[in-house]
Amino acid sequence: MNSAGTLSPFKSPTVKLDRLFDAPGIEVFAKLDLLQLSGSTKERTAGSLVEAFMESGALQPGGMIVESTSGNLGIALSRQCVVRGIRFVAVVDENANQSALQIMRAYGAEVDLVRNPPDGNKLAARRQRVQQLLAGNPGAVTTNQYGSPHNPQAHYSSTMPEIMEALDGRLDMLFVATSTTGTLLGCQHYIREQGLATGLVAVDAQGSVLFDGKSGNRRLPGLGAGAMPELALQAEPDRVYRIPEIQMVRGCRLLARREGILAGASTGAIVAAMGRALPDIPEGARIAFLVHDSGVPYLNTVYNDDWVRENLGEEPGTDSGQVMEGLSIR
Ligand SMILES: Cc1ncc(COP(=O)(O)O)c(C=O)c1O
Repeated sequence: MNSAGTLSPFKSPTVKLDRLFDAPGIEVFAKLDLLQLSGSTKERTAGSLVEAFMESGALQPGGMIVESTSGNLGIALSRQCVVRGIRFVAVVDENANQSALQIMRAYGAEVDLVRNPPDGNKLAARRQRVQQLLAGNPGAVTTNQYGSPHNPQAHYSSTMPEIMEALDGRLDMLFVATSTTGTLLGCQHYIREQGLATGLVAVDAQGSVLFDGKSGNRRLPGLGAGAMPELALQAEPDRVYRIPEIQMVRGCRLLARREGILAGASTGAIVAAMGRALPDIPEGARIAFLVHDSGVPYLNTVYNDDWVRENLGEEPGTDSGQVMEGLSIR
């Protein structure tokens, strides 16, 4: 535990993976952000967003944060708020993942459920509810993870420096999954400011509108966006991989079975992207990626064969050989 106790995100370990791919000439490193107390990289984002409000004096213990979120940010904000004596209200809709809501409630957050609106626009209904709660609670604030500079700041000041420190300053490629693009942007700012030669690879979902993607049905949470976040306008990765959900599933399963790391869908997407990139990566290169969250909340989806067959219409592959074949990785 670092000296700030449970308030600040941890410096997560970066470990070398020798079993993931059959590519002995390429060094692969994973940064284990699934070990953050709230279980994901969003612990860093939430810490930075809340801290910025507290430092500016806009928020004090006893104050209130309202945010439309039912995913990892909501869980991380719940935790960051409880340790700072802040009241947190998560505005969610009827599609919200029930286990995420249970975790938020366990941390003492209030969950404000917006019923499906007659026009079907859930996002607009949630935004309207946030505004209503802000208006009704003077002094309450909302964190705006989609546009706040304090989102990438978290990764500029912790994620990327930690990776470079662990790798003694030598890294050829970094793979990051994208949703708000906050993680990617923070790493991008650091790479440019330090003049590093590290290539930055964005891993996005099929069906996400980021990087000129075409909007489509997405079932697995964590990566991708249905509407362009303001932050994404600044994102300039060197390469983008767009991954279908069945490949996220196979990537997750490969990581679990070869390295014993149970990760969520966005990390599976990264594994699939690295598999595709491998033939073009020169011998002697060092690549790294983020394990953005744990696989436990995905046991009924990514790791459930029946769910995969019913929802993705394909066989997930039951051993690592079949999974590698499904990913076209030798
Ligand atoms: C599971 C997961 N995937 C991907 C990401 C990257 O998201 P963003 O682009 O919003 O930083 C995160 C960030 O915390 C995450 O928790």
